[in-house]
Amino acid sequence: MFIYGDKLKEVFLKAKKQRYGIIASNVVFDTQIRAIIQGYAAVNSDGLMQMSSGAVKYAAGSSQDMNAGAEFISNMIKTYATQFKKSGVGLHIDHATPNYFDFIVYCVENKLVSSVMIDASKEELAENIRVTKEVVTLAHKHGVIVEGEIGHIKGTEDEIVSDTELYTRPEEALEFVQKTNVDLFAASVGTNHGVSKGANIVLNLDLIKEIDDLLIKHGVERGLVLHGASGLTDQQQIIAIRNGVVKINKDTQYQMDMATAIQAFWEKEKYSIVCPPDMNPEDYIPNKGKFDPRKWLFKGEEVMQKTIVDFCNVTCSANNSILL
Ligand code: G3H
Ligand code: ZN
Repeated sequence: MFIYGDKLKEVFLKAKKQRYGIIASNVVFDTQIRAIIQGYAAVNSDGLMQMSSGAVKYAAGSSQDMNAGAEFISNMIKTYATQFKKSGVGLHIDHATPNYFDFIVYCVENKLVSSVMIDASKEELAENIRVTKEVVTLAHKHGVIVEGEIGHIKGTEDEIVSDTELYTRPEEALEFVQKTNVDLFAASVGTNHGVSKGANIVLNLDLIKEIDDLLIKHGVERGLVLHGASGLTDQQQIIAIRNGVVKINKDTQYQMDMATAIQAFWEKEKYSIVCPPDMNPEDYIPNKGKFDPRKWLFKGEEVMQKTIVDFCNVTCSANNSILL
């Protein structure tokens, strides 16, 4: 079932209280949307879908009209999610930088989304606070919840690129949350956007606890967000959740799942669409039973669905939907 900000807030409050994590999955295509919503539903988990600025531009096609792209993605998700009554699925705008303010306004006012991330982390703290506060005021008026960020997460996430990482300072996190009233806070603790292995990064999971403790001590407890979570080990995610993380962002893993599954299909079925070297091209008939896109796209869909089920089991959101 599609859920708006009020219910999504409940999802995160429950997750924080019971210390489990909600997977936030970046999507663009219907194939991914189906796989991921079905994955959440298969284990009675709530979940979040996320669309980046690049995703909505892609979805809009040649017009690149972000509003149209967002309508398209939002409608697909809302329509598809209605089928599943024991799994709440929201839609989030991921990493919207201040130059996309008007886009945020459009999505919020037209009820396309349940939550939004305003990412002004490249700005000075004071400016980050000013812009984030403006988004919070607007979004809360429409029942949409807001995520903000301080620090730099290394790597590439669509249009967000950073060659360096800057770990979040707890005292700045406190000031940011107090002054902006964001609902969710993204901390930079050493994860990377993109293809990275949990073992090869310098993670500071204690920093999550430090931030969480400080916010609680000052009466402004929030759900914390972990970006760049593809490739993390199960244990790293479990510790992050125990330390205060409620939202775990995944993108790269699904892209890799899809590419790997489809590459394997075509390696095996190459001659269904390519004439074998030992055959006369005039005698060759491609195999429609294999090149029908539903046949090979489905391979990607199957793997993504399995991945999301595994994720929900690791983060313990499985069988914990607020709709149960
Ligand atoms: O905002 C989205 C994410 O932080 C995804 O990161 O591509 O490393 O999974 P990832
Ligand atoms: Zn991110």
